[in-house]
Amino acid sequence: MTGTTKHVHWASKWRCPSNIALVKYWGKRDFQKPMNPSLSFVLQNAFTETSVELLKEGEQKVEFYFEGAPSAFGDRIEKFLHTISKQMPWIHKYNFRIHSHNSFPHSAGIASSASSFGALALCITEIDFAISGREPDHPDLWLKASEIARLGSGSACRSVYPGFAIWGQTQLFESCSDEHAIMIYEGIHPAFYGLRDAILMVDSGTKQVSSSVGHELMNDHVFQRARIGQAHQNINELYLAMLTGNLESFIEVVENEALSLHAMMMTSNPSFILLKPNSLELISRIRRFRERAKIPVLFTIDAGPNIHLLYFKKNELDVKAFIERDLLEFCEDGNWIDDRIGKGPVRVVASPK
Ligand code: PMV
Repeated sequence: MTGTTKHVHWASKWRCPSNIALVKYWGKRDFQKPMNPSLSFVLQNAFTETSVELLKEGEQKVEFYFEGAPSAFGDRIEKFLHTISKQMPWIHKYNFRIHSHNSFPHSAGIASSASSFGALALCITEIDFAISGREPDHPDLWLKASEIARLGSGSACRSVYPGFAIWGQTQLFESCSDEHAIMIYEGIHPAFYGLRDAILMVDSGTKQVSSSVGHELMNDHVFQRARIGQAHQNINELYLAMLTGNLESFIEVVENEALSLHAMMMTSNPSFILLKPNSLELISRIRRFRERAKIPVLFTIDAGPNIHLLYFKKNELDVKAFIERDLLEFCEDGNWIDDRIGKGPVRVVASPK
């Protein structure tokens, strides 16, 4: 974080990964708080890099450039800055120049709002700490960045940590909160740090339902109570499986969560079917391969048709051969993305002099 030229008062640059949920956040209450707890891991290769420069003091104005060009996403950022200015009143005093780019194509079906708001929140929180004279390496930076990221996009609050994170109150830890995510690492079986994610691209077209519309569908969903109960039970079982290395239970919970998310969408009013015939074909092939080859492969799915094939490091060669041989014909133009569990965000520029 630095003031680089005489016109730039403060500057910060971060790279923040996207994440994929194993227990899904679906449904909000109050302002950007989750109806149920969720658990995710960050990706390694899919990230957003964002720089924030605070220019001359004056009325707040935002210039936002995505991949070098002015972007309409600037309006959402302006709204976001207004929201967080309640906690960081200095925001109103500066002009903002923000540059952002993604490591993955827009059409990849990867949640870019998680990595974008994660990166932006880290930049702004770092600047906030500098302005208020706190050390940039203060451990509270992560919690604060997670809370700020959540106000932009719920799932973004899980992107600011390495490895696995939980967001939302649960019986698992007292430190779990609806306000921000927490990192989980103690006692997790080492096999899970070798998780791989092959994102099988079924359809790169725009989403039929935005996640904000999707969350709203839970407000008066006939299965709302049951879904909340299921998510609590699933997160307990999943965490236990991750501690003990119980792959069978891990697979059962993760697939149940992915299908429950889609079941919620299919049974809401209005109803959405986001899975395509090829999504279903991939799911059944993944299950068949697991039974026949006795190799732990499983799937998860976001709010779209693409299938995340999860597997473990020690099976990499066999699974990659399986993808090439049996799955690519069901992917759009044979496209898939080779990713894995990641090490979390990285600060791109040096600390203040
Ligand atoms: O963060 P949002 O509002 O885009 O919601 C994300 C919802 C899912 O990706 C479907 C699930 C999750 O937990 O990430």
